[in-house]
Amino acid sequence: MKKLWGSRFSKATATLLEEFNASISFDRVLSEVDVQGSLAHVAMLGKVGVLTESETQRIQQGLQTVLSKIQAGTVKFTVADEDIHMNIERLLYQEIGELAGKLHTGRSRNDQVTTDLHLYLREQLTILVGKLRALQQALLKQAAQHIDTLLPGYTHLQRAQPIRLAHHLLAYVEMLARDIERFEDSQKRINTSPLGAGALAGAGFKVDRQMTATLLGFSRLYQNSIDAVSDRDYVIEFLAHAAIIMMHLSRLSEELILWSSQEFNFVQLDDAYCTGSSMMPQKKNPDIPELVRGKTGRVYGALVTSLTMMKALPLAYNKDMQEDKEALFDTVDTLHGCLDLYIPLITTMKINKTAMRDAITQDFSNATAVADYLVKKGMPFRQAHAITGQMVMYCIQENCLLIDLDLAKLQQFSSVIEAEIYAVLQPEHAVEARSTIGGTARASVAQQIARWNVILQCKY
Ligand code: ARG
Repeated sequence: MKKLWGSRFSKATATLLEEFNASISFDRVLSEVDVQGSLAHVAMLGKVGVLTESETQRIQQGLQTVLSKIQAGTVKFTVADEDIHMNIERLLYQEIGELAGKLHTGRSRNDQVTTDLHLYLREQLTILVGKLRALQQALLKQAAQHIDTLLPGYTHLQRAQPIRLAHHLLAYVEMLARDIERFEDSQKRINTSPLGAGALAGAGFKVDRQMTATLLGFSRLYQNSIDAVSDRDYVIEFLAHAAIIMMHLSRLSEELILWSSQEFNFVQLDDAYCTGSSMMPQKKNPDIPELVRGKTGRVYGALVTSLTMMKALPLAYNKDMQEDKEALFDTVDTLHGCLDLYIPLITTMKINKTAMRDAITQDFSNATAVADYLVKKGMPFRQAHAITGQMVMYCIQENCLLIDLDLAKLQQFSSVIEAEIYAVLQPEHAVEARSTIGGTARASVAQQIARWNVILQCKY
């Protein structure tokens, strides 16, 4: 098959090179946006008089037919035509003959491919933001149901202070909100049209860039044609944001893995979202969080792949840039997969309130509350900290809890201590004392829930 660009070549392309050079095995994902871009380009060529009205219509109809055939799976792509752009052009020849040769007037694959990627990413981003919101809603729903469920809050993975489960879950809602904000901000840059930049220097003919941009729903144009074809910042930016999302999900995953272990026993993941062991009959494994945690690596890898691929590339387009796609598509697929499973996983997760309660009543997570109590009695915080530390050390030696010490014993540590300390030692006291904005007291958490209910328009 003669190449669309073959006339200055005296030999056929080596088969090995064809395979190596081709991107059709992965960029076929772009077929729909590629046709969208071409339809706008052709409409514009018609409007500025490069194509007649009937040529415009015939090419557009041909492109629609090609697209429906691709979608029906009745066409065969070939590595000989290298990529989705040239495969579609070849298919157009089969539909409308020589007229297909006019499609590429005033356009290069360099502005075409990046136009496609902009359109693809714009759509994917919108869908992904919807899924991030759905995950926020699932977390918010659990939070609203567990405003009165207390558990230990950790620092250094050591029990620190009791908190409300709702408070903990809402921390993830906040993280996801920043993820959404980053995605939405990057939409500005993604929604910028490179079409009409040509190979690099701009297009000959009276190409109307504003018209194609408007037809494709882009809100602005790249202002420099060299930048337009050589920019992949928007891909890297997406991958960086995706890497942060995966980092967030990996932290949630780690907690769910720990919490569903027998050692913690804080949550029970639904049977429909866990698997068993082929050998050990008793096992129920948290595969979803484990896989999400594991897949974080490939998304980080995609970011490093594209940053490194772009490093030190001279302007403008270089073939290296074809390597942006697999990293990008894999990341998009990974995010969809992780979010699709995380939403039902969180929705169906059961909380073991008793185990959480046992954990906070059988530890020293009320020690800060004792120190604060002493401070309220007029003691400097450092001294209160030291005295409470001595109380904890004594309890560890005696194998008991602070609440087990009688008043006389407590008063040996400090004479300011009175019987009211027993109320202070209750976890409820510790959580209610933290009523600052964003704190773990009931009113503060209720305020956070109310705020998110409005933002996420949650009704349940
Ligand atoms: N398949 C190519 C890519 O993905 C399309 C652009 C090719 N441009 C070129 N001048 N060879 O980057």
